[in-house]
Formats: sequence, C-alpha cells, structure tokens
Amino acid sequence: MTKTIDPIAIPQPELHAYLLSAVAPRPICFASTIDKEGNVNLSPFSFFNVFSSNPPIMIFSPARSGRDNSLKHTHINVKEVPEVVINIVNYPIVEQMSLSSTAYDKGVNEFVKAGLTQVASEKVKPPRVGEAPVAFECSVTEVIELADTPGSGNLILAKVELIHINEKYLTDDKLDTTKLDLVGRMGGSWYTRSSGDSLFEIPKPIRTKGIGVDALPENIRNSSVLTGNNLGRLGNVEELPTLTEIEKVADHEDIKDLTKKSELHKIAKEVLEAGHTKQALSILMHAEKFN
Ligand SMILES: Cc1cc2nc3c(=O)[nH]c(=O)nc-3n(C[C@H](O)[C@H](O)[C@H](O)COP(=O)(O)O)c2cc1C
Repeated sequence: MTKTIDPIAIPQPELHAYLLSAVAPRPICFASTIDKEGNVNLSPFSFFNVFSSNPPIMIFSPARSGRDNSLKHTHINVKEVPEVVINIVNYPIVEQMSLSSTAYDKGVNEFVKAGLTQVASEKVKPPRVGEAPVAFECSVTEVIELADTPGSGNLILAKVELIHINEKYLTDDKLDTTKLDLVGRMGGSWYTRSSGDSLFEIPKPIRTKGIGVDALPENIRNSSVLTGNNLGRLGNVEELPTLTEIEKVADHEDIKDLTKKSELHKIAKEVLEAGHTKQALSILMHAEKFN
C-alpha cells in the first residue's frame, strides 16, 4: 500500500514533517553572521549543502517562521552584511549547536549562550567557531527569497573565500571521514552520527563502466538469496567471469561438493559481502548448472 500526498492539500507543519523526515540525513551549516551594528549571531541550518566546487558554492536556507512568518536573524544579517562563516558540526559540538538554535532576541550572541569559542576570521567580519573541525569563510553572492508565506525558504548562496581545518582531522593531508564524526539532522528531534558501523564504502564507478544488473544472468537477477544491494555490487563488474575463472572457483574445496543452487548462492553472498565481487560472480555462474 502506498500513501500518496498532494502537498497543497495538507497543513504546512504536516508537510514540513514529511519533507524533513524523508530528506535526511542532512548536513548542518552552523552559520556565523553579523548585523550592521556588528552584533554576532550563530545559528544552525540543515537546509544546506555544497553545490559546486568551481566556483566553490554552498547554499543554506533560513526559512520564514512557520508560526509567525518572521524572518531569521541570519537572513536579516546577510542582507545587511553579505558575509557568513559556515562551520561544520561534528559529534563533540552537537549539543552546543542545538542550544544555539534557541530563539534568542536579535543581538544576542549565541557563541556566548552555547559556550563556543569565537575566533576572528581573516577575510570576512563574522567570527568562526574555534571548536568546529572545518570552517568556511564565505561571501554571500545572492539571496533568493522563494515566497513571503510561513515556512518559505530563503536561499543564501555563499562563495567560499577561505577554509580552516583543524589538523587533527587530517590523515596524509586529506580530511579523514573516520576521524570527523560528522552529524546529520533527521526528522523531528533525531540526529545521526557518522562513525563506527554507520560508515561503509562502495567502490566508485568513476573510471569503470559496470555491466549493469540487466546484464547479469536471469538466475542471478531472480535469486531469492541475493539482495538489491548484492545485485548492485555485482552489476559494477566490467565483464562477466571467463569459463576458466568459473572452473577455478568450482574446484575450491568449499564449493566442489555443493550441488544445490541456493547453497551456492548463500556462499556467493558471503564472498561478495567480504569484498570479492568477481569470485562471488564466478560462484553464481557455476551455480547456473544446478537446481
Ligand atoms: C540542527 C538544526 C537545523 C536547523 N535547520 C534549519 C533550517 O535549515 N532552516 C531554518 O529556518 N531553521 C533551521 N533550524 C532552526 C534555526 O536554527 C532556529 O530557528 C534559529 O533560532 C535561527 O536563528 P536566527 O534567528 O538567529 O538566525 C535548525 C535548527 C537545528 C537545531
């Protein structure tokens, strides 16, 4: 059964909840801005991403309040002083980031309320968060206001002018995903953490051209043992195994006495999930001979 929703037929807060629970996890832009009097503001926004590396452009969206249609201080500030520091949020600062989202009065400095360190920027006026693993000093190139109704977004286009990286998150001069422990915003009050078992790798099909799931033999595509993820990985091979490769695998002591297709598929799945794609595919092709 599928529930189908027309976005204009439901109240805005309900729509907001569906959108934010489904489009997740979202990275968090911890934005530092100043107003024309020089008052500092720091607030998190998860309507955020990087959209280009040449030029380096990030976009985030402080929306109009769904309750009273008011504008976020961050939105007002970047129109007064078109600069922002986008600080990246990781697990060690997630609670302080959340605290800074409190609706304090205009002019209140959330660095102070959240107990975070203000470090002077080099190219822009707003300071950066000393505790952030990475901070991007940006100029604001454009503000796109989508509508003037409650909940409507305001896209802030920010061009990266300078990048600060805490060196403890580098390995061989590259940002190390296993050290960063980044957090993402989910629906409601849920967050996700990018560490330990939640991290996994998939070989990038950049320089390779996989044969595709459609090119796998039918018995493999229709296997009751293999999952969609298994098929996706198998479809990433550039060619089917040769007869010699299949015969070699068939000779292996764990395989040679097996004569049931489902048993062979189970072994192939284990071999595949251990990272040996071509070998797994050879076992699956060998299994074609049996019922
Ligand atoms: C993790 C997180 C993500 C948020 N993302 C957004 C967002 O994308 N857009 C938005 O308008 N408010 C977002 N909020 C709420 C704002 O941070 C909150 O309204 C804040 O008070 C705005 O501050 P300002 O008025 O000082 O700019 C988010 C809050 C949290 C905790």
